[in-house]
Amino acid sequence: MVGFGVHSYDSLGSTSDEAFRLAREGAPHGTVVIAREQTAGRGRTGRGWQSPPGNLYLSVLLRLDLPPARVAELSFVAALAVAQTVDAFLPGRARLKWPNDVLVDGAKVAGILVEQADGVAVLGIGVNVAHCPSGLAYPVTSLVKAIPTAVIAELDPAIHPTDSPRERSLEGDVAGVGDLLLRRLASRLASWLADGFALVRSDWLARAHPIGTVLRAGATEGAFAGIDTDGALLLDTPDGRVRIVGGEVQVR
Ligand code: BTN
Repeated sequence: MVGFGVHSYDSLGSTSDEAFRLAREGAPHGTVVIAREQTAGRGRTGRGWQSPPGNLYLSVLLRLDLPPARVAELSFVAALAVAQTVDAFLPGRARLKWPNDVLVDGAKVAGILVEQADGVAVLGIGVNVAHCPSGLAYPVTSLVKAIPTAVIAELDPAIHPTDSPRERSLEGDVAGVGDLLLRRLASRLASWLADGFALVRSDWLARAHPIGTVLRAGATEGAFAGIDTDGALLLDTPDGRVRIVGGEVQVR
């Protein structure tokens, strides 16, 4: 796929573990690991990531000459690439929730996990293409669930060369979604590395919850006031403006 060496597997514990393993063997910057299913998929904050066949699971090995704080910007870069990919199927419907959840109609359609070890970063992305995970505390959706059949029929015929589009979207389109995502990611990464975080920040804000939306982060509740120049969440609380640098956020 565009600009990356891709390693594809039928089944892996975690594509990110495999990317770290390949890194230890000397794999180059931009190496991509894709699996049809994961048996030990990882989410943020120590959670698992349900990974049956039919959804997209990929990890990208990045050898970045940047301080760890700047590597954290990667999750915003990736969220934009995922949102642009979702846009190809659901024009204008992908929204972003801090730090990097991609939502359609308020439900999570993709997750992003940035991990750093041994001097490399691994960017792991999971997109719910055909299946929604079950039993979660937050709303989830999938591309197939969210896309009306009529819209699927209008998709790029190079990626959807079929007269039975909705059926294809259940299985065969995972590769198409992955291809599209890697193209968007390659372009977003190049622009971020060349020009820095400012454009990423403004593009991210344009897709985020409106300023003033009440958000809860742990014990802190406040009105969304944007993100700082390093990506920290800014909340206006009765005690003043608060910077949140990690954790999960709920929209109240
Ligand atoms: C989240 O909790 O929102 C992040 C989920 C990240 C899941 C992806 S799937 C591909 C890669 N491999 C993993 O084990 N996790 C990430």
